[in-house]
Amino acid sequence: MGGEKHPLEITAVIIFIHRILYLSENINMLTKEEKRVTIYDSKTKPTVPQSVRPDTPLHRLNLNWREKDLPEKERTKHVHRLHPYLGKFIPQLVEVFLRKYFTAGQTVLDPFVGSGTTLVQANEMGINSIGYDVSEFNIILCRAKTAKYDDRKVRMEVLDILEKVRRQNPLRHSQLSLWEQRQDLFSLTQSQPDNEYLQQWFAPQALNQLLAYRDLIDREGYEYCDLLQIILCRSARSARLTTHFDLDFPKRPQTTPYWCYKHARECYPTTEAYKFLERYSIDSLRRIQEFSKIRTNASVAIYHGDSRKAVNPQIDGVITSPPYVGLIDYHEQHAYAYYLLGLDDKREQEIGPAVGGSSKIAQQKYQQDIAAVFIRAAEAMPRGSRMIVVAADKNDLYGKIGAMIGVEVEAIVQRHVNRRTGRRSSEFYESVFIWRKC
Ligand SMILES: C[S@@+](CC[C@H](N)C(=O)[O-])C[C@H]1O[C@@H](n2cnc3c(N)ncnc32)[C@H](O)[C@@H]1O
Repeated sequence: MGGEKHPLEITAVIIFIHRILYLSENINMLTKEEKRVTIYDSKTKPTVPQSVRPDTPLHRLNLNWREKDLPEKERTKHVHRLHPYLGKFIPQLVEVFLRKYFTAGQTVLDPFVGSGTTLVQANEMGINSIGYDVSEFNIILCRAKTAKYDDRKVRMEVLDILEKVRRQNPLRHSQLSLWEQRQDLFSLTQSQPDNEYLQQWFAPQALNQLLAYRDLIDREGYEYCDLLQIILCRSARSARLTTHFDLDFPKRPQTTPYWCYKHARECYPTTEAYKFLERYSIDSLRRIQEFSKIRTNASVAIYHGDSRKAVNPQIDGVITSPPYVGLIDYHEQHAYAYYLLGLDDKREQEIGPAVGGSSKIAQQKYQQDIAAVFIRAAEAMPRGSRMIVVAADKNDLYGKIGAMIGVEVEAIVQRHVNRRTGRRSSEFYESVFIWRKC
């Protein structure tokens, strides 16, 4: 009798072995970064955004998606990747809260609309949307993402301008030394390079092609200028004289071959832009076509301006991710677009810019500015409606901001953010503040 096991003991051993197998299988499917973060050991599965309904309890939400739950392809689906943008939230996070708190026909406001994630997701669900941003480039990007396109006409325009640039700029040997090229190709530039920035950051042949494209947008009377400008800017971003591993924040132009960490070989700074114009034309057409299949006729209103001064029409709530204090300069991030297109520069109106730092004084100013935006938004909302604010609040600023606005804190949901882009490796958590208008 002494050696025999009780059936309950056997069941416990089986459950234990299953659990170990589940955990080890789970661990093997995690990325290197995910393995360092304990949150991914959780027994509950991450929330499937499409499964969320108005009555889904907040405590059931698990917003810690792993790479395998939400691969990059999904996070950057259709128009969400028309142009890179640092500091956006993922569409699936927006989808969860749109499904929980909004219904088709209502109106959501994003006072810091950035690259337009809220607008695109809202439109997909038949929810009207309003977006504000102080950066003009972001406004063009939002318009290009949410516009209604005539499939045949947009294809014709995108291919027409590409062909015209190709004809005007026969490709020269692309790996001449940049200094040889300057002698060789500057004479070909149709319009003079406008300023020092463009001359420093682009090889002459690349600049020549970009300027030709830009001039054609100005001259030819195309209907879909926003989309063409986005294709131009995305190509310009890739055609800058930078290393492949430092496209986000290049410090100085790279004019010589260099050891590339990304590709583990010697790489050359690029000397042409046409290949990017071609690549992104095809990619953009594919993306807008994909979105047009699910695009609804819900309205999208996009305004260029300081949301501290916004005059909002009646809205049903807010979903947004505000700028952080002292982290990103949003105009500077797309400097090439501002120089190339001669956009309106309102950088002095950015809230919490990196150049302003994150001192105590900067933090206090930030709290006042952010509160001012939400106070205006709250005036346009019915009592009981929600503001969903996504922010990494490492300086503990949002408790006071909520109090300044006078909202009730319904919940704060924490989530880990997988930093899959750039070469940053620190653990990064963000909070989703769910505020109710009293
Ligand atoms: C964190 S980003 C928003 C990203 C957005 N959720 C997305 O998915 O693309 C914050 C945005 O706030 C904008 N911003 C900063 N100060 C502003 C102001 N005073 N008025 C309006 N927008 C402002 C910045 O230009 C930036 O695009």
